[in-house]
Amino acid sequence: MAEFILKINGAPRTVNVAQDPEQGGVGGDTLGLTGTKYGCGISLCGACTVHLDGVPIRSCQTKIADATAGSITTIEGLSGNRAHPIQKAWVAEDVPQCGYCQSGMIMSAAALLAKNPKPEDKDIDTALGGHICRCGTYQRIRQAIHRAARSGTRPGTTPPGGTQNDRNDR
Ligand code: FES
Ligand code: FES
Repeated sequence: MAEFILKINGAPRTVNVAQDPEQGGVGGDTLGLTGTKYGCGISLCGACTVHLDGVPIRSCQTKIADATAGSITTIEGLSGNRAHPIQKAWVAEDVPQCGYCQSGMIMSAAALLAKNPKPEDKDIDTALGGHICRCGTYQRIRQAIHRAARSGTRPGTTPPGGTQNDRNDR
């Protein structure tokens, strides 16, 4: 058993894990943060996406040792009262079906809008290309991102640079 301190949603959290710190995947369930989902476990579905220093990452593939140096934001920390423009747009467009993929989708969408306030369809497809929705909500996701962009409200999280793949390839 090893103990790590992770900064999650602005607060230090102690995590005890019975695993090699070089291995990826601290489950949100361990911390009572159930919004982030575990899907494939091999970086193919995007359900586990959170932000590390504002950049969307696959938490299932992120080394705990790398995460201790940064600031993690989960879906619970995106907005205190679900007031993030992307969350409002998600509700307005009635995007979710089963919901399993949605927190990962929202985290990548929020990072996209922070970097590109007026994304075109191709930008959305690139940013969310690694996410799988088994319910096929892709069209409503696009509509919600465009709606959030039209709202003109600057989303709160700003990636300092780099891409999801940059992080996951480390
Ligand atoms: S669970 Fe991490 S990408 Fe699928
Ligand atoms: S809403 Fe069901 S998997 Fe996306």
